[in-house]
Amino acid sequence: MSEKTNLPVPAHVAIIMDGNGRWAKARGLPRLAGHHAGTKNLRPIIRAAADAGIKYLTFFAFSTENWNRPEEEVEGLMALLSEFLETELQEMHKEGARFLHIGHLDGLAPSLRKKIEDAIELTRENERIDVILAFNYGGRDEIICAVKKLIEAGTPAEAVDVKAMSDAMFTAGTPDPDIVIRTSGEKRTSNFLTWQTVYSEWFFPEVFWPDFSEEDLLKILAEYSKRDRRFGGLSKK
Ligand code: IPE
Ligand code: IPE
Ligand code: MG
Repeated sequence: MSEKTNLPVPAHVAIIMDGNGRWAKARGLPRLAGHHAGTKNLRPIIRAAADAGIKYLTFFAFSTENWNRPEEEVEGLMALLSEFLETELQEMHKEGARFLHIGHLDGLAPSLRKKIEDAIELTRENERIDVILAFNYGGRDEIICAVKKLIEAGTPAEAVDVKAMSDAMFTAGTPDPDIVIRTSGEKRTSNFLTWQTVYSEWFFPEVFWPDFSEEDLLKILAEYSKRDRRFGGLSKK
């Protein structure tokens, strides 16, 4: 329950940050300017989520399919992550955020990989909010990796169940998202948290990610509190 609003607060909110390119296009700017504006929006939204009492916040920043974009854009996205870690991490750390990564670090430049690993190490004891960055992440890839892990560990077939699979995911230890938000009006998952979102509540605000505000988040939290989550059972309301 939120102390301020007395409404139930979701533990985990996951965000597909979409629409940076269209945001830029609408202003006659290059796509990378949209990614820049989108990256700038991380900090206020992390703050707003932490203030609202959300304990886990996942951002989809780069999918396993985003490698298909022009090299210049891919390089720009890598540079922006690097810049974000350089400029925002200390502040996040002070504010009690624990930084985590899901996806594959191999495939990234060694210098970027090191920055991500250092960020995880620096913030590992923080407890206010987990900020989980899905970067070079794909939901199908994660499921394949989990199956491989179980096979490599010699797991017998009868021991393969939902818990064993969940524990083998990159997200082990994090509760499934209560809410998934995809900005920009697109209504598809694009390979995000395929295993974990089977009972998530989805929201599709008609706003490009760089313009997504604290107010938009609070509106979603209010609407979430009215949804009836039945998990296949019957309403408790
Ligand atoms: C989301 O914005 C950021 C990434 C996928 C990296 P897009 O770049 O997908 O923006 P649109 O969808 O082209 O507007
Ligand atoms: C999903 O957005 C990936 C991220 C936001 C990081 P995309 O823009 O890549 O998805 P599609 O291609 O429109 O499905
Ligand atoms: Mg997009």
